[in-house]
Amino acid sequence: MLNVAVFGSGTGSNFRSILAAIDQGTLTGVTIRLVVSNNAEAGILSTARAHALPALHLSQKQFPDEESFAAAMLSALRERGVNFIALAGYLKRVPSSVVAAYRNRIVNIHPALLPRFGGAGMYGLHVHEAVIAAGEKASGASVHYVDEEYDRGPVILQKTVPVLPGDTPESLAARVLTVEHELYPEALSMIAAREAKENAAHT
Ligand code: GRF
Repeated sequence: MLNVAVFGSGTGSNFRSILAAIDQGTLTGVTIRLVVSNNAEAGILSTARAHALPALHLSQKQFPDEESFAAAMLSALRERGVNFIALAGYLKRVPSSVVAAYRNRIVNIHPALLPRFGGAGMYGLHVHEAVIAAGEKASGASVHYVDEEYDRGPVILQKTVPVLPGDTPESLAARVLTVEHELYPEALSMIAAREAKENAAHT
């Protein structure tokens, strides 16, 4: 079972798509144990509360240094029995001690076809602006493992959308977001199934 903490900074539409897939029974082997946001006002926290899920506002600004911030994050995760982290629009870097404690157990969704159009500065509309400026005919979304570098860990699953003539960053973002909502539950489902199979092989 993936006991998941979802981290986000904003609206949380990907988180809602994950919850919907769990409710509909299309995403199995996954339970949401905790939702974390650096932003107290983030929609993702209100969605969590509306679903009676633990919602935690946790920001570096509440702590004197990264070490104490990371320690608080780790203890919140452990308290809830979290064994997997899904970043869904989380705009902050995950502290390296948390990445180390959850090695190969943190994934992220990125609104482009990695390894292209990722890395520092490639977030929100900047991504889609860059895709259009490069004259790409296709874009999409990627779910990938998270390591110490932004958007660099191995890709798990991708979905492609066309870039259409006359696309604006906003219209392309909306098309990509639609496939993100299918992609994230599918990727989590795949990881949970793979893990269940591995666990069964070891028992
Ligand atoms: C998505 O486009 C995701 O790919 C990116 O941040 C956005 C989050 O949107 N990492 P939401 O908060 O899930 O609506």
